Amino acid sequence: MSSNKLVVVGQGYVGLPVAMRAVAMGWHVVGVEVDPDRAARLAAGRSYVEDIPDPELAAALRSGRYEPTGDYARAAGFDVAVITVPTPLREGAPDLSYLVDAARSLAPLVTAGATVILESTTYPGTTEELLAPLLAEGSGLRPGADFHLGYSPERIDPGNRTWNLVNTPKVVSGTGPASLAAVTAFYDSLIERTVPVASTRTAELTKLLENTFRHVNIALVNELAMFAHELGVDVWEAIDAASTKPFGYLRFTPGPGVGGHCLPIDPSYLSWRVRHSLGRSFRFVELANDVNDHMPDHVVRRVTEMLNARHLPVAGSRILLLGLAYKRNTGDAREAPATRVAGLLADLGAEVRAADPHVDPARLPARVTLVEAGAAELAAADLVVVLVDHDAFDRDTVARHARLVLDTRRWLPGPLDVRRSGPAAVPIPAQATRHDDAGLAVESL
Ligand SMILES: NC(=O)c1ccc[n+]([C@@H]2O[C@H](COP(=O)([O-])OP(=O)(O)OC[C@H]3O[C@@H](n4cnc5c(N)ncnc54)[C@H](O)[C@@H]3O)[C@@H](O)[C@H]2O)c1
Repeated sequence: MSSNKLVVVGQGYVGLPVAMRAVAMGWHVVGVEVDPDRAARLAAGRSYVEDIPDPELAAALRSGRYEPTGDYARAAGFDVAVITVPTPLREGAPDLSYLVDAARSLAPLVTAGATVILESTTYPGTTEELLAPLLAEGSGLRPGADFHLGYSPERIDPGNRTWNLVNTPKVVSGTGPASLAAVTAFYDSLIERTVPVASTRTAELTKLLENTFRHVNIALVNELAMFAHELGVDVWEAIDAASTKPFGYLRFTPGPGVGGHCLPIDPSYLSWRVRHSLGRSFRFVELANDVNDHMPDHVVRRVTEMLNARHLPVAGSRILLLGLAYKRNTGDAREAPATRVAGLLADLGAEVRAADPHVDPARLPARVTLVEAGAAELAAADLVVVLVDHDAFDRDTVARHARLVLDTRRWLPGPLDVRRSGPAAVPIPAQATRHDDAGLAVESL
């Protein structure tokens, strides 16, 4: 590598951390970002990705080795290009238009000996069937022969304080041995451990396997939680107990549904590919989608039951949602189940208020008033729904001031753990409702 010039196409949740790490490791990085607002924010040192604080971005800019831009021409002469553009679903089918655009823009800049790596999540076959021909056509060069081409899935977990880009092993692949060697060498310059696999298809499938595994297991405990509630069994206690098994069990916990850019989407890339190429259905994925997609409806049903038990209609009740993001300690509200919960409650006539210190107020769901989860707000709510267990929320304040809570994350503390009997028709006493002396009532999902 002559000049160590890296271009990262797409400066989002995945691309920006890669760019920052590469700058820290001595690369000259061009971050190509087509959203002019994002590009301007980066140039001004204002990060929109929580895992990259402003000072880290400012340091990268100051180094003179990071250039955010909307102009592909700035990437000319690159040694390595990493593509991290969105790969959403459009009406159940993969939308690879961002990838096609990026490939067409990048192709004329590919030179002999350069390396191009796709990181976006996609179905097995994309790198060789879609990306390779586009790059070949636009560059006049042969992928895997004149230049290197590979796929390496991103495993970034926003908000995770233990596992980050550097210490999480990274699966790498190439369209042939020389490409694999080039892709591996690049990531070895950034992270602690690379895991080479034999083909780009394997690497593409690995990412989808990981997320499908998670999606299916979350659906399993979600469905179990619904049944357990009706049976009067505390599913959380059962999960805690099962988690003491030191082998053959992995802990997953129920929640209000799945969100973000991965779980609601990636498994469907796989089921789409299976259906499209093999004419068969991937039943596990379809079942998991069905269960997880309906969790917000279940949350709203539980809210309705809890209010009803206190002779309150949903219409006109003041409901405070704690958390709008798709998971804890992130401001990412894409596909977040909270959006659907809020919409369903508003449809029923509830006065919906929500607190989330991380989510950009511009992304607030319609018909929701953004508030802070302070004492007065908690006390004024007929019911509080804990949707996201952000560290920024204060358990004691919630426990002290709220009157009625649906805790979808089993987040509130133990001293409230006084049980009451289950629904009238089920004479089992181990229901997950907890009361304290001051009259706070908490139900878990
Ligand atoms: N966010 C995650 O936690 C995560 C984790 C693993 C994998 N992924 C995958 O990584 C990919 C990117 O996800 P993300 O979360 O970073 O998305 P993102 O939307 O945060 O970032 C993508 C960026 O690419 C830009 N872009 C779109 N088209 C472009 C083009 N032609 N040229 C240059 N820039 C372009 C967009 O404006 C956007 O800023 C997706 O395939 C996603 O599934 C995401």
